[in-house]
Amino acid sequence: MIILIGSQKGGCGKSTIAVNVASSLALDHDADVLLVDADSQRSVARWVQDRQNRQDIKDIPCVQISGDVRKNLKDLAGRYDHLVVDVAGKDSSELRSGLSVADVLLSPLRPSQYDLDTLPHLAEVYSMAKDFNEKLRATLVLNLCPTNPVIREAEEARTYLEEFPEFVLAETMINDRKAYRDSVSEGRSALEWKDPKAADSIRLLTKEVLLLHA
Ligand SMILES: Nc1ncnc2c1ncn2[C@@H]1O[C@H](COP(=O)(O)OP(=O)(O)OP(=O)(O)O)[C@@H](O)[C@H]1O
Ligand SMILES: [Mg+2]
Repeated sequence: MIILIGSQKGGCGKSTIAVNVASSLALDHDADVLLVDADSQRSVARWVQDRQNRQDIKDIPCVQISGDVRKNLKDLAGRYDHLVVDVAGKDSSELRSGLSVADVLLSPLRPSQYDLDTLPHLAEVYSMAKDFNEKLRATLVLNLCPTNPVIREAEEARTYLEEFPEFVLAETMINDRKAYRDSVSEGRSALEWKDPKAADSIRLLTKEVLLLHA
């Protein structure tokens, strides 16, 4: 399966979700996973490099690609169980060409109006991709949600998202947790860190993506 992690907003957690979902597929589901870094910022490639310097954790392979990524992704998909593709936080040729061959668009967004405002455009890009790639499905995941239950931003976002029936909203929400920042900076995933809640959310999200798109 080709899972493309994309959005039109910077900093909403694409690379964080990419490395964590890839880790859950590799570690919990024992799948052959390739991380594909299609963002010139190289966040994912750097994470993989940091990881390779550590002996105690499982290697996850990574390639970097850019431009029209259609052919690359098609070729690579035949050699792995799953590709997890990270693209830049903007409308780009990597996003558009990637969506023309992906199975799933997994799109993180913060429960803030600025992130929600980018959805009409993402819906347009998604709908155009679907004209050529009928199998494409899209799941949104709320990321960086406040852990304080008094703050109801995530629920408000859920209500707003009902206006976009083409997008499935993942049941699993990812909270704002230091564990996601700290683990990534050491080439580890939340599954290899000391915060079971952070790990559980990633496991649940990965399962949901697999189930939704089985
Ligand atoms: N759930 C989370 N909890 C805490 N920190 C997070 C979480 N998700 C992402 N972050 C932090 O937020 C920042 C942005 O995340 P990340 O780089 O993954 O976003 P991105 O969408 O890939 O950004 P870009 O658009 O620049 O590629 C990083 O510092 C990351 O560590
Ligand atoms: Mg990124």
